[in-house]
Amino acid sequence: MTIQNEQQIPVTSRRCDALRGDITVPGDKSMSHRSLILGGLATGKTLVTGLLEGEDVLCTADAMRKLGAKVEKLEDGTWQVEGVGVGSLQEPDHVLDMGNSGTAARLLMGVVASAPFTTFFSGDASLHKRPMRRVAVPLAEMGATITSRSGDRFPLGITGGSLMPIDYAPPVASAQVKSCVMLAALDTPGITTVTESKPTRDHTENMLRHFGVKVEVTDNDEGGRTVSLAGQQEMKGADVTVPGDPSSAAFPVVAAAIRPGSDVTLTNVGLNPLRDGIFETLADMGADITISNVRLQAGEQVGDIRVKGGLLKGVTVPPERAVSMIDEYPVLFVAAAFAHGTTTMRGLEELRVKESDRLSVMAEGLKSCGVDLEELEDGLIIHGRAVPPKGGATVVTELDHRIAMSFLVLGCGSEEPVTVDDGAVMETSFPEFVNLMNSLGADISREGSA
Ligand code: S3P
Repeated sequence: MTIQNEQQIPVTSRRCDALRGDITVPGDKSMSHRSLILGGLATGKTLVTGLLEGEDVLCTADAMRKLGAKVEKLEDGTWQVEGVGVGSLQEPDHVLDMGNSGTAARLLMGVVASAPFTTFFSGDASLHKRPMRRVAVPLAEMGATITSRSGDRFPLGITGGSLMPIDYAPPVASAQVKSCVMLAALDTPGITTVTESKPTRDHTENMLRHFGVKVEVTDNDEGGRTVSLAGQQEMKGADVTVPGDPSSAAFPVVAAAIRPGSDVTLTNVGLNPLRDGIFETLADMGADITISNVRLQAGEQVGDIRVKGGLLKGVTVPPERAVSMIDEYPVLFVAAAFAHGTTTMRGLEELRVKESDRLSVMAEGLKSCGVDLEELEDGLIIHGRAVPPKGGATVVTELDHRIAMSFLVLGCGSEEPVTVDDGAVMETSFPEFVNLMNSLGADISREGSA
């Protein structure tokens, strides 16, 4: 089944010369969601600088308003959140529409699970296909009642109330699941723990601490990690500066890496060590990447990335690295298509349940652009020929922003132009993508016909 927006906006990318310039990418999506959620739950004011104003995050802002928080954009561009205080959410009188955002959906399910009322959730066609069992199971174990469509999918309703603390070991490595349980634990007496077999992004832990909540983290001998949180602590509003999103940065970084002669610098990019796998992998492939000016900002590592274009080589990406770059595989597949030699990427079954089935949608699109590859149940093997792929195709984006941007990056270097059927999906995470890429020298335009 193909899913699409009613009003599709085709976008075409044509081969460009070397990319050059300095840019900043929009704010980190994961941190933006969390800043609005924690700000809305805390007592007092939170000022957020650098918030991503993409559709996903605006859904979270709207949901927090419906739950009683005051969320507004000030004249100087910062966002101000006046929180209700943990345990004082108000019953929303409308369905919470989570749009395309799995993060907003799963985190907010945790937020409302401890509130003594019923909240209804819905989203777009992509979100309605995504599995919610992974969060429904621990929330039910804590005492919430969840009524959902078949397969634990949206739309669904949660009746919350007094919860019990749990010790939970998620069967999938997922920051969304961990964060959902931690957010449910905020108003739950006693200590809740989440033990992950592989550490996932820790923005919730970092930001909770920034808001004055004590969170304990211990690493175990098997490479896993346990996060413990005592409920009903005081949480106070705190100002948050959101750095550029490394997942968004990955698109211009790959575009520059595959266009010989390019020289692009991205300033103020989030470099959380649990998110930086893409830069490590591109460096393994021979990309000329320099990271500088690394500093700590509100508990998060931030720095500048300079990338120069050249020829990449195929590599085998360690499957255990997947968790630190899970959103970046679509654009890594593009890098692999331009490389010399075979790139093997496995351990990626989670990609099948993202905004689209990213393994099959990317495999189909890449094949239509002339790329030689094998699709496996848990990954892709891409045979790069060290010459640009042919391109010359129109690719179906399936309501998936990262599919759209990946193929527009491919079009920057393929022999013939590449069109994505719907560029509007980029609004979810990177509304400025086309203008920013063109400011570096890309040739991307809002029109059809590849
Ligand atoms: C996110 C976690 C990841 C990631 C998503 C954002 C987060 O999802 O893919 O884009 O902000 O917690 P999973 O938790 O499903 O791995």
